[in-house]
Amino acid sequence: MPPDPPLPTPPRSPTPHSPLPTPPKVPSIALTDPPPPTPHSPPPTGRYGVDAPNVPAFMGLSGLVLLTVGVFVLAGGGSLAVAIICLYWSLWLLASTASYLYTTRAGKFRVWARLLAEQHLRGDERVLDLGCGRGAVLMLVARLLPKGRAVGIDLWSTSDQSGNSLEAARRNAELEEVAERVELHTGDMRQLPFQDAEFDMVVSSLAIHNIRSRADRLKAIDEAIRVLKPGGRLLIADFRGTSDYAARLREKNMREVTVKSLGPRFWYGGPWTATRLVSATR
Ligand SMILES: C[S@@+](CC[C@H](N)C(=O)[O-])C[C@H]1O[C@@H](n2cnc3c(N)ncnc32)[C@H](O)[C@@H]1O
Repeated sequence: MPPDPPLPTPPRSPTPHSPLPTPPKVPSIALTDPPPPTPHSPPPTGRYGVDAPNVPAFMGLSGLVLLTVGVFVLAGGGSLAVAIICLYWSLWLLASTASYLYTTRAGKFRVWARLLAEQHLRGDERVLDLGCGRGAVLMLVARLLPKGRAVGIDLWSTSDQSGNSLEAARRNAELEEVAERVELHTGDMRQLPFQDAEFDMVVSSLAIHNIRSRADRLKAIDEAIRVLKPGGRLLIADFRGTSDYAARLREKNMREVTVKSLGPRFWYGGPWTATRLVSATR
């Protein structure tokens, strides 16, 4: 075995007789500055399934079928126009499937980790997640509340999220080591089983659009407002209906109502299904 290379000599500590080494230049940070928001929280250890799993399954399968047809038509010397159309749409569908799966498995976690860090929570708040599903956002919230409570409510629809259930959400709270500050409820966000002004913040991710009628979606918005404390924050991420939600919030005298796009990490297939964030203060 070759001998170990010599260890690097540690720098000599300054003595009263030796000149002090010039310290390396570091950017100055005022001690009063708040810590910068964490762009990514630790990767989730729970199992969070796939949002509306039939959608990527259908897109992916259709893409594969069209790809096969296109390749066969080309190889068999068939119509070039048909082959090009099949290949074009197959690539489009496969790219959309990839974007969808990225968002549901990774992108949404990153975006929500950043959004939540930007809220500068104290750590003792009560936060409600409407349509929490298996807890992708709820557990991120719970990590930020060492002395608070992350409350989730859901009907546990398995067509809206694969493997969705109260038990799956509870298991994730245990896996993420936040179970003692997570509270789970089975219920409908159109009729919340909570008192007025119970929460410091209400969040909801990709859940409200699942309610079929517009009147009922607005009922869910009204309920979110009702359970918020004065000064409390509301954050709703969704890929449709956001202008409607914002209009309702303004109608109900919520303050600082804004709508913004959350970028490609939160595209369910492409820019045509980009998720937008509606935020407001009560
Ligand atoms: C696409 S999943 C998103 C889950 C979770 N927010 C996330 O980001 O992983 C939509 C969720 O909304 C829930 N949901 C749909 N309608 C609901 C209602 N009226 N009340 C409560 N939850 C509802 C579904 O059961 C499902 O868990």
